[in-house]
Amino acid sequence: MSAIEVSLGVEGLGKRYPGAEDGARAVNGVSFEVEEGKFYTLLGPSGCGKTTTLRCVAGLERTDSGTIYLGGTVVSSHQPNTFIRPDERDIGMVFQSYAIWPHMTVFDNVAFPLRGVSRSKRKMRRNEIPAHVMQALETVQLAAFADRPATKLSGGQQQRLALARALVRQPKLLLLDEPLSNLDASLRELMRTELRRLQRQVGVTTLYVTHDQSEALSMSNRVAVMENGKIVQEATPRQLYRRPATRFVATFVGRTNLLDATILGKGRGETLRLDTPAGVLEAICPTAIREHDQASLSIRPENLRLHAQEPSSGTANVLPGTIDYVLFLGESAEYHVSVGKQLLISRQHPDVELRRRQEIFVEFPTEHCIVVSDEHGTTPETQHEPDDESEARMDDSPLSALGSA
Ligand SMILES: Nc1ncnc2c1ncn2[C@@H]1O[C@H](COP(=O)(O)OP(=O)(O)OP(=O)(O)O)[C@@H](O)[C@H]1O
Ligand SMILES: [Mg+2]
Repeated sequence: MSAIEVSLGVEGLGKRYPGAEDGARAVNGVSFEVEEGKFYTLLGPSGCGKTTTLRCVAGLERTDSGTIYLGGTVVSSHQPNTFIRPDERDIGMVFQSYAIWPHMTVFDNVAFPLRGVSRSKRKMRRNEIPAHVMQALETVQLAAFADRPATKLSGGQQQRLALARALVRQPKLLLLDEPLSNLDASLRELMRTELRRLQRQVGVTTLYVTHDQSEALSMSNRVAVMENGKIVQEATPRQLYRRPATRFVATFVGRTNLLDATILGKGRGETLRLDTPAGVLEAICPTAIREHDQASLSIRPENLRLHAQEPSSGTANVLPGTIDYVLFLGESAEYHVSVGKQLLISRQHPDVELRRRQEIFVEFPTEHCIVVSDEHGTTPETQHEPDDESEARMDDSPLSALGSA
């Protein structure tokens, strides 16, 4: 057994809704593990099975196959048939419509789960409730609002109230289903940092669901990308961005230039030569790939280098191009560039000044050329990548910027 405790385990989860077409499974063989105290995200487009997975973990849906463990206990399995009811699973939840009760005060909303009968924990004595509620409200910095009607809170405050209610029983696991999607863009960004700071502070193992890749990349220890009811890649945010395993992941997680490529043969050093619509390029390829194989070359817009003059003759992967379009965005400038038959997007520092129709040289740095093949995988990592994002200090709360409105 590993020294790190697994808090949530899902093995071979399958779920088909009644009435769905033959073979159409909402979730089709999903397996993952979340370590104690970590923030784990299911990321994928609409309809890929994220909510269904979460609801199966919560016990709100019966599974068709697979096993779910919570803190070492089987809560759902077939052969033998086990099903632990949702209120016995010791889970806190916040959903997209965070469903706070409008006729109650802030205090009563948080006290509600403590007053109800729960099978997973003993019912709390009446005189213990206020201290627990106020502690949860303090955690989300809403203690001063305890007596307010819940409807008289801002969107961000209502979101934090829903979180306090989910955390007040100190659950083993926190489930969050797109909890920020009702907020406007700037509040959503603030709450992203705030939610992550809170999760670290409380230390609760968290399973988060979103279709928003920047939420997933910025908040998670690990991310599982889902497509059509399956996990197609599971990695740290950095690995996911640097080494997408399939074409789908390369385009879904971040923006990229994806070039069709045919393997020609050996290039310089470890590289192979690839024929692409931009021209011949060299890249390190997945080890199993062979001459004549088809693949895709992915290069992120921020990694393409644009030169007004031809770089020195030793520089690899330089092709002539023309600037079609310049989009000045303030913090960066976006260049649309034609290279051979390929249109490329390049993101540059705003100080770079190149003009429309200018003839330039485009450099595809070899270390940033990632070859992706759905059959053979992706370019291997050359440097050691940590299994977990470093736990950056997040002591500075951005809450003060929210104001009290
Ligand atoms: N109650 C239901 N009855 C029948 N089919 C359902 C039900 N809920 C979801 N589905 C179907 O199951 C599939 C997965 O749905 P799910 O809600 O898990 O997707 P999702 O990844 O959460 O999507 P979104 O990002 O839109 O919330 C979809 O094809 C959906 O239409
Ligand atoms: Mg959903």
